[in-house]
Amino acid sequence: MCGIVGMVNGHPVARDLVTALGRLEYRGYDSAGVAVAGPGFEVHKVIGGTTELMGKVGNGFAGHAGIGHTRWATHGRAEVRNAHPHVWDGVAVVHNGIIENYHDLRGRMIANGETFESDTDSEVIPHLIAAARKAGAAPMDAVREACTELHGAYAIAVLFQDVPDRVVVARQGSPVMVARGRNVAAVASDPSALSALCDDYAALEDGDLAELSNHGVTIFGRDGQLAQRCWQKVEGAEEEAAAGLFGSFTRAEIAAQPVALRNTDAALAGRAIPQAIADAERLVVVACGSSMYAASTVRPWIEKLTGLPCDLEIASEYRTREAPLSRGTVGILVSQSGETADTMGVMEMLKARNVPIVAVVNVQHSQMARGADLLWPTMAGKEQGVAATKSFTCQMLALIRFGLALGLARGTVTSGTLVAVERELAGLAVVCARAEMLEGQFEAVAERLVREGEALFIGRGSAAALANEGALKLKELSYLRAEAYAAGELKHGPIAMIREGSPVIVCAGAGQHAGKSLANAEEVRARGGYVIALVDDASAAAFAPVADEMIVLPGAGLGTLFAQAVAMQLIAVHAAVVLRHPVDRPRNLAKSVTVE
Ligand code: AGP
Repeated sequence: MCGIVGMVNGHPVARDLVTALGRLEYRGYDSAGVAVAGPGFEVHKVIGGTTELMGKVGNGFAGHAGIGHTRWATHGRAEVRNAHPHVWDGVAVVHNGIIENYHDLRGRMIANGETFESDTDSEVIPHLIAAARKAGAAPMDAVREACTELHGAYAIAVLFQDVPDRVVVARQGSPVMVARGRNVAAVASDPSALSALCDDYAALEDGDLAELSNHGVTIFGRDGQLAQRCWQKVEGAEEEAAAGLFGSFTRAEIAAQPVALRNTDAALAGRAIPQAIADAERLVVVACGSSMYAASTVRPWIEKLTGLPCDLEIASEYRTREAPLSRGTVGILVSQSGETADTMGVMEMLKARNVPIVAVVNVQHSQMARGADLLWPTMAGKEQGVAATKSFTCQMLALIRFGLALGLARGTVTSGTLVAVERELAGLAVVCARAEMLEGQFEAVAERLVREGEALFIGRGSAAALANEGALKLKELSYLRAEAYAAGELKHGPIAMIREGSPVIVCAGAGQHAGKSLANAEEVRARGGYVIALVDDASAAAFAPVADEMIVLPGAGLGTLFAQAVAMQLIAVHAAVVLRHPVDRPRNLAKSVTVE
C-alpha cells in the first residue's frame, strides 16, 4: 500500500511526478505529496488524490529532481501533516511499508531535542538520514547507515536539499522498481507508473540501494558492491477499461469480464504442468479476500479433477500457524496484485520448506509471479477499481484450468470429463455478458438493500463460498452490513437476525443443492425475511412460490456460478451508486495490501 515515485530529469519534474503518481493511486488515495529540488527545494502535500495535487503543483515547480507519494494511512489519520514526503533538516523521504521500531527511534530522537510533525512511522527515516549526513556521510552512505537502524518493511526514495541532482532509493521487503528513459532516471512502486517516460526497469532486491542521477541509475547490493539486476522493457500502458461510458472503472471492468475470461482461457488452455507439481499429493491454496473466495468457490472442481485434497488457508492466519505440511504438498498462491504482504509472507515460508509454488497472479511483473515455480497467470488486464471484479472471475477460471491440467497430468481426467469441462469453460464469457444484461433487476435489488441497510447472502456448495464474495463486494462498495452463511448453517444461530423484511439473497442452481437451499429460503420467509433468489433456469419453478423477488440467470452448472458472481458485483455497484459512494475508491481501502 502507498505508492512512491522519484525522478531525475533534464527539466522540471513536478508534473511528471504527479502524472506517475496518478497511476499508483490504486495503492492508496487518502493524501498525496511531492518534493522537488534543484533549483530550490519545494514540498507540497494535499488531502485527496493526484487531481488535487496537480492543481497545487501547476507549472510553478522548477526542480529537476523529485519524489512523490500517494498514501494509504497506516500510522496517523489522513491529514496533511501525515502525508509524505516527510522532511527533516533538508532531507525529504517518501516511504512505502511499515517501520516496526519507529517508537523506540522516535523516543530516542525526541530525547535528543528533535521534533516531529506527524503521527507516522515514516518520519523517523529523514531524521536518521539527516543525522548521518550531519556526521559527514555522503547521500548514499547516509541512507545505507539509516537503513541499518530500521526494522520492518520499506521502499524509500530520498531527496537532498544540498545535493539537488539525485534521488537515493532503498528497498527491504516492499516492492520498488528503478527505471531508465531518454534523459530520465526514475523509481516507482510499479513500472506501469513510468510507461510514458521510461524504456526499461529493474526490480530492486531486498537490501539494494540505488542512485538516480543525470548519469542514469546505479544499483548497489546489500554488500555495498555494484549489482546487476535484470532489466526488462516497460510495457506501454495496458489497455484499460474506460470508465467514461459506465460511470466508474469498476462498472467498466465488470463489463470487460467476457474479454478478460477469453484472454485468460486462451493463455492457459493446453498448458502443461511440470513434473514436480504433477507429483503433488496434497494442494494448499493460500490467499486473501476475494482471491480466497475465488479459490473456495471452485475448490470442488479442483478436487474432483485432480483427485487431490485441496486445503484453503487465509494467508494472514496460515503464516503464523506453523501448520504441519504433509509430504508432497504443493502450494497455490492466488493474488490479483502479486504483492499482498500476507500471501508473500506465506510464499517465503513455503519456499523455506521446499514446497513447490504455483502462483495464480494477474500482475505478471510482481514479485509473487517472478518467484513462483510455476506462474499460472490470469489475463484480466489492469484492474483500476479497488474492488476485485474481472480478476475474481478470471481467478475462478484459471484455477479450474489448473485443476484440469493437473488432472490430465495425473491421469484423473477422463476424456468425457475433459470434453464436458472444456464446453463449460468455453461458454463462460457469453454467460457473463448475458448476466450483465439483467442490470435493471440488479439495480432494483440494490435499492432494496440500501433501504433495509443490510443483506444476508446464503447458498450451498460452491454457492456458499460465492456468497462470501457477494457480501464482501457489498460491504466494500456500499459500506452496508452484509453477511454470508452456508445456507445450512442459518438454523444454527444466524437465523435469529431475521426480522420482518430482512433481505436474504439466496444463490441456488443445479449443482448447488438447490432443493436444500429452497428449504432454507422457506425458513427465512416463515420468519418474515424477504427472499431474493438468484437462480438458474432449472431451479426457477421451485423458487417462484417462495421468493419475493427472483432473478433467473443465464447459464447452468459452472455458468450459473459466474452469472451469480456478475449479479452480486452489479448489485454492489448499484448500492454504492444509490448511496453516492465513490465506486472505484471505497473509503479506507487500497488495491494492493502490502502491509501485514
Ligand atoms: C477485493 O475486492 C478486495 N479489495 C480484497 O479483498 C483483495 O481481494 C485482497 O486484498 C487480496 O488481494 P490480492 O488478490 O491482490 O492478493
